[in-house]
Amino acid sequence: MENSEGTKTFNAPIPEGLDINDYLSSFEKSYGAYGVVVAAIVAMIIPVLLSFLFMAKKKGKKRGVPVEVGSEAGYAVRNARITELVQVPWEGATTMAALFEQCCKKYSRDRFIGTRKLIKKDFVTASDGRKFEKLHLGDYEWQTYGQVYRRVCNFASGLVNFGHNVDTRAAIFSETRAEWQITFQGCLRQNITVVTIYASLGEDALIHSLNETQVSTLICDSKQLKKLAAISSSLKTITNIIYFEEDETANVSDLSGSMSDWKVSSFLEVEKLGERAPVPPSLPSKDGVAVIMYTSGSTGLPKGVMITHGNIVATAAAVMTVIPRLGRNDVYLAYLPLAHVFELAAESVMLCAGCAIGYGSPLTLTDTSNKIMKGTKGDASVLKPTLMTAVPTILDRVREGVLKKVEEKGGLAKKFFDIAYKRRLAAIEGSWFGAWGLERWLWDVIVFERIRVVLGGHIRFMLCGGAPLSGNSQRFINVCMGAPIGQGYGLTETCAGAAFSEWDDTSVGRVGPPLPCCYLKLVSWEEGGYTTSDKPMPRGEVVVGGFSVTTGYFNNPGKTNEVYKVDERGIRWFYTGDIGRIHPDGCIEIIDRKKDIVKLQHGEYISLGKVEAALMSSNFVDNIMVYADPFHNYCVALIVPSHQVLEKWAQEAGIKYKDFPELCSKAETISEVQRSLSKVAKDAKLDKFETPAKIKLLPDPWTPESGLVTAALKIKREQLKAKFKDELQKLYE
Ligand SMILES: *[C@@H]1O[C@H](CO)[C@@H](O)[C@H](O)[C@H]1NC(C)=O
Ligand SMILES: *[C@@H]1O[C@H](CO)[C@@H](O)[C@H](O)[C@H]1NC(C)=O
Ligand SMILES: *[C@@H]1O[C@H](CO)[C@@H](O)[C@H](O)[C@H]1NC(C)=O
Repeated sequence: MENSEGTKTFNAPIPEGLDINDYLSSFEKSYGAYGVVVAAIVAMIIPVLLSFLFMAKKKGKKRGVPVEVGSEAGYAVRNARITELVQVPWEGATTMAALFEQCCKKYSRDRFIGTRKLIKKDFVTASDGRKFEKLHLGDYEWQTYGQVYRRVCNFASGLVNFGHNVDTRAAIFSETRAEWQITFQGCLRQNITVVTIYASLGEDALIHSLNETQVSTLICDSKQLKKLAAISSSLKTITNIIYFEEDETANVSDLSGSMSDWKVSSFLEVEKLGERAPVPPSLPSKDGVAVIMYTSGSTGLPKGVMITHGNIVATAAAVMTVIPRLGRNDVYLAYLPLAHVFELAAESVMLCAGCAIGYGSPLTLTDTSNKIMKGTKGDASVLKPTLMTAVPTILDRVREGVLKKVEEKGGLAKKFFDIAYKRRLAAIEGSWFGAWGLERWLWDVIVFERIRVVLGGHIRFMLCGGAPLSGNSQRFINVCMGAPIGQGYGLTETCAGAAFSEWDDTSVGRVGPPLPCCYLKLVSWEEGGYTTSDKPMPRGEVVVGGFSVTTGYFNNPGKTNEVYKVDERGIRWFYTGDIGRIHPDGCIEIIDRKKDIVKLQHGEYISLGKVEAALMSSNFVDNIMVYADPFHNYCVALIVPSHQVLEKWAQEAGIKYKDFPELCSKAETISEVQRSLSKVAKDAKLDKFETPAKIKLLPDPWTPESGLVTAALKIKREQLKAKFKDELQKLYE
């Protein structure tokens, strides 16, 4: 049962260590064929019985329990497994620097960091003339915890020798890679606060964050050098640049003209500087700021969240306890941006447990990924990870991709897939068929193993965060990958850690109980119509309190005081602005976003996000922003229509037009799109006042470059409102 590693955990009818294959073969030896039959029957029945017991236990299982806390009144819960909040993974690991050193000693001979060497690089030209880079990458090459520790010490020393003033901050501006983690740990060893900037943030955001934090040394990938040279006159505080070499060295001398004020060196050189002349570490303290993390706000310039050492170790300690059987045998695929708190927290967890971390990238993830040369292997098939993180958009894409493939194949393959999917789904959702270990094994062999090899075939647990995951995609991964998904809920301001669903919780749409490092509280929002006395469940704004709650926004005490509070018992609370409700078992479900709710003139509340999500399912809609003026009793919408769908419709309807903007402005087009909206609104059971009374079709797409959507493609309401002020006003005339 090759793959039972992954599937066993899900329904877990079979206690750990009990392998049916072992049973079968030992029976065979002693009792021959008869024994096998008996064993087979036993093997089928025991799991059925166990699963009944297990399910009965699971249904009533309390995951979060009410707790008495300080500060504002509300309904608070804590994780049911703890009585006191968890602060550190083990005694003495109070800072990230101490934790790192202890892990490197503890796991010194185990594999830590793996990277792939470039074997060959090609360019292919697409039919439209655009050039695409294709890579042939080799096997993973590993360094042990002991080796990485020495490199981190060398880099830390090298940084000081290179001339970095340890009283100033350093910034990392790079995609996820092994050197990112080494740089990060190196800085922390010298008590240097690291500023991180999301690589896809725009120029203004980059300049703003580096200037605001007075960064003096910037560490980046070599492909950023050109960009930096171009804006060097705006980067007044920078004196040193350290760049990560690519396999083919970037031509730094090309840029020397525009970077003459900077001292520039490669990462390897700095490591060597440190190796030749070690500098004693200057270890940080628990409340010291480890990271100032800039995140794209949906309004204005990005804000820098100050994350302390204590915050990171608390989140790591808490998340460690929710991944089943986490340990040195686990292999983790790292590919999400490390400048995002979710990935930084996940890698810290892996470090605590002594896992191997293989670095990859979203564009080289699978054999069919964009940048992978035809006939060569993607990161997942080479690494064969047991754990990985994902964000909902990626899982949605995986699901669409697999379904498309199945549809294309058609015939018997599709039949098999459909049956297998239904059976496994029924099993997960609680029918007793699921306990038939042998049936599951059969479906795995016939159908699902083929899908699983896409991610290497060994995934046993997936961590998902960043945004709510749809029930469909969650189930799909459960069934096809045979692995449970832990859904996390957290923000940069809570150092990723707030709530996390447990592996044996098979429900969808919830984010589990609070992590053991914090409390979660609902506070009534009377105006919004959400209160903690609501039936059947208490509802309100989600407030997080505990050790993962960060210090606040850099250089912005006003904003910090608005959303952070310290209570009379010394616990820090963060007001998330999310609306949630707490189920009887103590699990949280996020149901709305405070600032996206508008009270209309006649007193009804409209949730803009909810309406947008519902209307997105119209084929005509590529993007949408719903707007509600509180002085009217209806809402309106700005819509970027789908080029393809609209033009196809126009052709069929025999509509004549000169260009796309003209088509968008035609009355026939607008009423057709409105018809479609009304239909999907009705399907989604929206109220009449929730269906836009008037709409405006905008021919140009909203892109991150235009500043109208975030890097994660979430709409930026304030920017859109400002840009289309006149259009919105007209819609209300
Ligand atoms: C950099 O910050 C200083 C204040 O610390 C401010 O006066 C200046 O305008 C900023 N420069 C840029 C380019 O943002
Ligand atoms: C780098 O650029 C300089 C000046 O443009 C050129 O002389 C040199 O040959 C280049 N080196 C490489 C390795 O391409
Ligand atoms: C670490 O740096 C901070 C300032 O960034 C300073 O306040 C603190 O005293 C330093 N800690 C140690 C142990 O030197």
